[in-house]
Amino acid sequence: MKFHEPKNLAFLNALIITLIYIVFFFLSVVLLFPLLLNNFYFYLVLLISSGLLFLIVIIIFRYTLDRFIYSKIRLIYKSIHMFKVGKKEKPVAFPEHDIIENVQSEVDTWEKEKQKEIEQLKQLEQYRRDFIGNVSHEMKTPLFNIQGYVSTLLDGGLEDPSINREYLKRTEKSVERLIRVIEDLDEISQLESGHIKLNKTRFDLVALTHEVIEMLDMKALKHQIMITVNDPEKHILVEGDKDKIRLVLTNIIDNSIRYGKTGSGHTKVTFFDMDENILTEITDDGIGIDTPDLVRVFERFYRTDRGRSVTRKGKGLGLAIAKHIVEAHQQTIQVRSTIGVGTTFGFTLKKV
Ligand SMILES: Nc1ncnc2c1ncn2[C@@H]1O[C@H](COP(=O)(O)OP(=O)(O)OP(=O)(O)O)[C@@H](O)[C@H]1O
Ligand SMILES: [Mg+2]
Repeated sequence: MKFHEPKNLAFLNALIITLIYIVFFFLSVVLLFPLLLNNFYFYLVLLISSGLLFLIVIIIFRYTLDRFIYSKIRLIYKSIHMFKVGKKEKPVAFPEHDIIENVQSEVDTWEKEKQKEIEQLKQLEQYRRDFIGNVSHEMKTPLFNIQGYVSTLLDGGLEDPSINREYLKRTEKSVERLIRVIEDLDEISQLESGHIKLNKTRFDLVALTHEVIEMLDMKALKHQIMITVNDPEKHILVEGDKDKIRLVLTNIIDNSIRYGKTGSGHTKVTFFDMDENILTEITDDGIGIDTPDLVRVFERFYRTDRGRSVTRKGKGLGLAIAKHIVEAHQQTIQVRSTIGVGTTFGFTLKKV
């Protein structure tokens, strides 16, 4: 029995008051009119009056308790409820019955929701901090390099033919790197703000893949990685923003070279017909990605320790951009990988 419930509380109080009444009634009769103890009507009156008293006390208690609690909790209930449903929705009526039970369950669910929100906000805050740290780190390295080269050139290096051209070339490289970071950031912020307009056309996905492979030819040659396309003669028509899909393919194939098996690697591009969509899979036989990293590689600036050990060059933005582009097309991108065996990235596009 829950004693904090108004109906139980009223019952208990009525019982106590009635028992006290019976004891007093009995004692007063014993002391004042002992003869009445042998009278049947005395017991009848006692029974009826105690019953009536019990009922009246229960009713009065129940009513006053309800009114009291109602007036006290109503405001709390309303505030919580308004918080939960938001201002626009119509609030539901305040429950007339089981007030405490109702308020308790409302508070419980409200607390759980708030707890979840707090966790999400904390995560976002951490993400924001990481993001700012990463951006400044990405900018700092080429900026410090530029500063170093320019200072050396100004301090007499400009007249030294053994380093002047070399240092200017290195400065140019660092400037290019800075520009690339800024371009990638610009691309991401445009994609994230949702302002990006897709210029959708119909194009041949296989032909576009060949274009991208050609563009990355020199890099693949340098790492001695062979890139093949299954059904290279086939024409697969898809719908999408061709330039943006080119960027997706470039970023994924570029990764397959960068994190591939340098010396004798193989990257395979395969197309799968899936009723309404075409699934493009890019498989390499490189270093692979650890399972906990799989969900994180699409985050801005996220780089795996393995990736970092292979090259310092990556910015950790390529896959974040690819994911945004694919999702802007209302399509999906996923990855699976086995350490030491290789990695497969796959994304879908609407078939026409
Ligand atoms: N094919 C792959 N094999 C193994 N690891 C990979 C592969 N592709 C991506 N990764 C890991 O995921 C990380 C994120 O990749 P992403 O392309 O976003 O950035 P990046 O290659 O480091 O830099 P960039 O912005 O220049 O592309 C990489 O740093 C690497 O650790
Ligand atoms: Mg990359």
